[in-house]
Order: sequence, then C-alpha cells, then structure tokens
Amino acid sequence: MTMNRDNIGKQNKIKISPAKGRPMLYWVGKKPLDYVKGYPAQLLEIFDPLKTGLKYETPRYEDLKKNWQNLLLWGDNKDILATLLEQGFRGKIDLIYIDPPFMSGADYARKVELRGIKESRTNLDEADLIQQTMYFDMWKNDAYLQFMYERLMLLKELLSETGSIYVHLDWHVGHYVKLLMDEIFGQENFRNEIVWVYTGPSAPGQAQFSRKHDIILWYSKNPDRWIFNTDSVRIPYHGTTAGKFESEGTGFGGKKADLSKGKIPEDWWYLPIVSRIRTEILDFTTQKPEALLERIIKASSNPDDLVFDCFIGSGTSAAVAQKLGRRWIGCDINKGAIQLTSSRLQKIIQEQIKNKQTKYLSFALYKVNNYDLKILQTEATELAIKHLGISRTKTDSFFDGTLGKNELVKIIDFNHPLTLLDLQLIKDELQKRPEEDRDIVVICLGKELAVDPWVEEWNKKHPVNKIKIIELKTDQKYGKFLIHQPDQAKVKIERKGNKAIIEILDFISPTIVKKLEMDNTVFKVKIPDFRSMIDCVLIDTNYDGKTFHIVYSDIPQKKSDLIQGKYELEIPKSKVTIAVKIIDMLGEEVITTKRI
Ligand SMILES: C[S@@+](CC[C@H](N)C(=O)[O-])C[C@H]1O[C@@H](n2cnc3c(N)ncnc32)[C@H](O)[C@@H]1O
Repeated sequence: MTMNRDNIGKQNKIKISPAKGRPMLYWVGKKPLDYVKGYPAQLLEIFDPLKTGLKYETPRYEDLKKNWQNLLLWGDNKDILATLLEQGFRGKIDLIYIDPPFMSGADYARKVELRGIKESRTNLDEADLIQQTMYFDMWKNDAYLQFMYERLMLLKELLSETGSIYVHLDWHVGHYVKLLMDEIFGQENFRNEIVWVYTGPSAPGQAQFSRKHDIILWYSKNPDRWIFNTDSVRIPYHGTTAGKFESEGTGFGGKKADLSKGKIPEDWWYLPIVSRIRTEILDFTTQKPEALLERIIKASSNPDDLVFDCFIGSGTSAAVAQKLGRRWIGCDINKGAIQLTSSRLQKIIQEQIKNKQTKYLSFALYKVNNYDLKILQTEATELAIKHLGISRTKTDSFFDGTLGKNELVKIIDFNHPLTLLDLQLIKDELQKRPEEDRDIVVICLGKELAVDPWVEEWNKKHPVNKIKIIELKTDQKYGKFLIHQPDQAKVKIERKGNKAIIEILDFISPTIVKKLEMDNTVFKVKIPDFRSMIDCVLIDTNYDGKTFHIVYSDIPQKKSDLIQGKYELEIPKSKVTIAVKIIDMLGEEVITTKRI
C-alpha cells in the first residue's frame, strides 16, 4: 500500500464491535467506541533470571504464543487495550479481572515508608511516612461512565470465546456498571454477582450500618460456554449440614452425598481484607487479598491460560496467576504501581525457581504511548492544592475548591495550557449560576497568548465574578515545586578480573525530601541513611543501552531492612556496560552506567 494523506490516519484503526443490547444506561456525552488506534510499545525492562534470552521488541501475540513471556504494561489502559488488539490479542484472553477506581470520593494514597525505620518509630513520629497520591478517584459521573464503557468494550474484544470477566466494584458505582455490562456483554452472559464480605473498623459516631462488602460481577463471553472448575473451588460443608447428611446418609434429591469433596461456594464470600493478613501487606491502599483472586482464577481458568488485569495496582492478580501457573498480562498508568508489581513478581519467581518450577519464569515491562509526565498529573494537582491552601469542594461538579472566603477555584489540567475554550466553559458555568458572586481563581501551568486580553476585557465588564489567573510555571512563589528534580546517585563501578564491584556511595531523591518537608510541619525531617530512600536496586551486567535485563536484584523483603548497597557480580572477560538502576520509595528511578 502506498502511503498518502488519506490512508495514514486509517492505517491502524481497529474496529470495535457494537454493544450487545438493552437495557441501556444514558449519560451526558455517551459515545460508542467504533474504532481505536494502537500505539508503539517500548521495551524497558526484562526480568529473566534463568537467562533464557527471551526478548520481544514488540509484544506480538504470534511471537509470544510460541515462547511465552509475561507482560507488564505501563500506560493508560485505553491505549494499552487498543495496542493489544493491534498486536493480535483479539479473542486470546481467557480470564479478565479488573478492580477499577470506584469513584469513591477518596483520593487513593499509597503510604510510602522510608526503609529501615519502622522498628524505632514511636506512634507520634510519622515523619518518615509520605503520602503518594496514586490517582484521584473522584470523577464526575458522566466522565466515569464513559471511561468504563470504553474500557469494557475493548476488554470484550480481547476475551476468548470461553472467557470470563470479573469486575470488582462496590456500592458507589456497582449498579451503574452492571447496566454497562448488560449492554456490552448481554444479560444472557451474566453469571454471578459475588458479594465479598469482610469486617473492619468503622467511623466513630457513625449513624448507619457499616459498609463492609464489595461486589464482583462475573460475565462470560458466551451464554453457553465458559469455564467453571467446580472441584478446584470446593469448600468444606458447614458442620451442622455435614452432620445432617451423615446421619441421614442422603443428599439432595435422595442421592447419596459425597461430603468429602466439599461444596461449591455460595455467591457471597467471607475473606479477610489485606490489612488483616500480615504477610500480604504492601502499603497499597486498595490492595486485594490473594485468597479472593485465587478463588476467581481457579474457578474460571486452567493452568497455562492467559489472565489479564488492566488496573493491576499492587499486582495481586498477576501474583496469584504466577503462583497458579497461569500466564498473565498486567497494566497500570501509575509508575509506582508498576514498580511495586514488578518487585512483587520478581520475588515470587525467585521463590519458584528455588522450588524447581519450570514455567513462565520471566516477564517484560513495556511503556505504551508517550506517557512520560515527569510528575503525575494527580500529584501535581495535589501539590498545587496544598501549596496554595485551596480547600477542596467535592460536591461541586465544576469548580475544584475555594480559596479564602471569596474565591472559587478552577484548576486547569496541567497537561495543556489555559485556553480561551477553558475560559468559555467557566463563563458558561457562571451563566448557570446567577446567584454566584464570588471571584474566580483559575490555576494553570501555563497559558495561551489570547488569554490575558480576554480576562482583562472580562474584568472590565464584570464587577463580580472577576477572574484572576495563577500561572504556576512562572509564579515565583509556587513555581518551584512543580519543577521536577530527578533522583541523583553516586555509584562506584569497577572491574576486578571477571568480577564487577559495585558500590552505591550516595543517593538523594529531591522529591522525597521535599515531600517530607511539606507533609510534616511539626516534625523535622530525619533521613538517617540515604538507603532509607531506596526501595530496590537492579543491576544489568551487560547493558545494551536500551533494554534493561535484570541480572541481579536487591529487593529487601521487609520494610525495616535496607538495601545492601555493595555488590560483586560475575562478568565476562570482554568489555561490558554495567547499568545500575536505583528505584526510590516513590517509584522513581535513576540509572548509572559504566563500561568496564
Ligand atoms: C483499585 S486499584 C487496583 C488494586 C489491585 N486490585 C490490587 O490488588 O492492588 C486501581 C488501579 O488502577 C490504576 N488506574 C487507574 N486509571 C487507570 C488507567 N486509565 N489506566 C491504567 N491504570 C489505571 C490505578 O493507578 C490503580 O493502581
């Protein structure tokens, strides 16, 4: 095909089948997804401890199916789902589990602890705890529904003919998403609504029942063909039931009951939450228990099947899939989540190698699309809010908060400059609120040229609702905190015969230091050892300048342990490039290389 203007755009458009039917939920701005476009995937890291040499520049299904390598994909899952479709994964996924943001009104934060400190910390001294905002879970209804609609439509395309999808939700949006599922997958494919019940602390003084359950919607791709492995999910009968069967010697319908096999679980599951399972805690707020995923994966997939989670978080579904001998693909938009999943899986695979397991012992990390904000959008917003002293308004669907008594705040997405269109939207909104007499503060990172004259004109005409702009990029007082300073490391790398001698001499994460300063006004920051800021160290002893092969990883098991900081590794006689990747407690990284 010759390239011309017309077919460049069409070239990698991927057709998406229409939704199945009714009932249909309607929201403002509802749009079907007819076509999507794939993106380039850039190979960043390979974990291949048995040195099989598996390396795929592009994760193409046809290549991977011959010699599988698990995949961790970093980016927005809409782009990733489109890319997987383009790379031949249509109809290839056996089981999907997703645990998307819930629109819960909470900002999810990962509590990041510095290493090596916990043991000596008193209850009051929380100076070593940093909040890292992972994502805002605070979306307006319409945008949330469109977000889920698009992803669910893409997921359906990826699901195999005997495949199943489990969608983990709670009371916030469970009822809406069930309608989306009916529309997209068809009511006839509804299998179960599983209720996961748990116990936990409730808010003091609360005047209603404690909300202690989540729901998990299970749909199959096909109404008469799906996997359900009865025998692998059976649980023991309740004592009294077992007693009754024994004494009577019969089961349902007069048939003799074989009680030893146990029963198929009900559609409500009582399983403890992660904070009650000491061995699983990874300090990821929305982390789900492995037992929950174990039941889902065992019930709806077989060994070697492909399990997919495009909201991977701390990596629970990948971890369980790996332990159960399934292949897996995981994605997340958040670098911290990707790093956490990566180190969780590295540990599991090392353990499996010790136990002589032989299958699927490597994975590769790709970045999809150009998602390379130096600082996360959500984090930037959070920082701006803190620095300017804005009070958040969660009930206002347009304005983001207030400043002092008389100013309403609108924050413009930091990934684009303030434009006239943004101002028009503010104007339209104000027209709907004739009673509103407060002034407006617009917060942006930068602005278009036409903005200032527009605002000047507006302010002349409007004695109330005057508009003021705070441009963070150029603002003396606030500008500083948005300018990202990368991690810095001092690493000694030397050759001694056929050994590389590596020593981390110093390390600093300006972001961690800054966050500690910001979050703890009372307690002075104490970082006793630079290694407290380091989560893990990965080493490639023959770096090709592009893809990082994790030949050695130093990931301390416990939070109270520090990384070693000194390493001796075997290397060939010929010259090699040593690369040392240091990942900090917020998931940021710095690479030092040396040819020796
Ligand atoms: C509720 S958490 C998942 C928790 C996970 N089940 C676990 O056990 O740790 C949701 C995750 O979805 C990710 N996420 C949110 N929007 C996303 C998007 N558009 N693309 C990819 N990941 C996204 C968040 O970064 C977060 O890690």
